Amino acid sequence: MTAEPLLSLRGLTVDFRLPQGVMRAVDRVSFDLAPGEVLGIVGESGSGKSQILFSLMGLLASNGTVGGQAVFQGQDLLSLRPKELDRVRGTSLSMIFQDPMTSLNPYMRVGDQLAEGLILHKGLSRSAARAEAVAMLDRVRIPDAAARARRYPHEFSGGMRQRVMIAMALLVRPALLLADEPTTALDVTIQAQVLDLMAELAREIGTAIILVTHDLGVVARLCDRVVVLYGGRIMEQGPAEALFEAPAHPYARGLLQATPRLDEALTPRLGTIPGTPRSGGAMLPGCPFEPRCPLRLPVCAQVQPALTARGGTLAACHLEAER
Ligand SMILES: Nc1ncnc2c1ncn2[C@@H]1O[C@H](COP(=O)(O)OP(=O)(O)OP(=O)(O)O)[C@@H](O)[C@H]1O
Ligand SMILES: [Mg+2]
Repeated sequence: MTAEPLLSLRGLTVDFRLPQGVMRAVDRVSFDLAPGEVLGIVGESGSGKSQILFSLMGLLASNGTVGGQAVFQGQDLLSLRPKELDRVRGTSLSMIFQDPMTSLNPYMRVGDQLAEGLILHKGLSRSAARAEAVAMLDRVRIPDAAARARRYPHEFSGGMRQRVMIAMALLVRPALLLADEPTTALDVTIQAQVLDLMAELAREIGTAIILVTHDLGVVARLCDRVVVLYGGRIMEQGPAEALFEAPAHPYARGLLQATPRLDEALTPRLGTIPGTPRSGGAMLPGCPFEPRCPLRLPVCAQVQPALTARGGTLAACHLEAER
């Protein structure tokens, strides 16, 4: 009864070569994404969120190697030749980065940058591509889009630039949009608007989203499902509703159920958990969260827990399910 997944990650690993040895940043991550679904990835800094997205885009640093499978629309992204991956990235897979200036060319008019992808990958004429670019700028609510399209990126405010990025990413009507903290550079009020706009447009087009964010309000509002990552491993995953209501993993509980401070009431952030976040490392025999876990058992340092069903989610924890 479930439709074919759009993306199917199986045992995705990312290893970095360092002078002192190999550091595993992503450790056997597996999940499926359905067409049009919005999946949130949450976890503290260094947990491997960005590396998952970079590995899908073929954008790992040169000291990184990727393992496992990432089957997207029937082909494994990790084994595509650069030319084939380029085609996928130009037509059905897009990414929005944290800082829009990393993907905008400062010397090129915004409208021309947007049109380029359509000319290159969709074979549109220059004038048809320009018209579509302006229409998309209008849809992301850039005022006076036709005139604005003739301007350069530095003539846009931060919020507008981020909207230009959204327009650029969705212009080719991709099946999947990867968004890595796409609004952290913006004011809090503008962040919410821009993310809502992104999700609304993606829904209209039928684009699935993998969204990396620290903002729990955003996760609760926009995401169908959530993956909680720690030390490169999935600690817990499941439908957003089930995860917020009853997180089973002590790490997910700390992250999702931390008491919001008054000044953060409007934009709940991820909880603060005592101890130093683990950031990749050698392959441990046990659970990466064990040193910080308030509920650890002797077995936790020895044996890596498998993801098993709890209530409505899957959690990797030795503690017996309490419900
Ligand atoms: N080129 C590299 N060489 C070595 N280690 C790297 C390299 N790039 C990233 N790492 C490490 O990989 C781990 C995961 O990094 P990643 O960027 O995915 O974290 P993240 O979850 O996105 O964190 P943040 O929330 O801060 O963006 C970190 O420990 C990081 O230092
Ligand atoms: Mg990151």
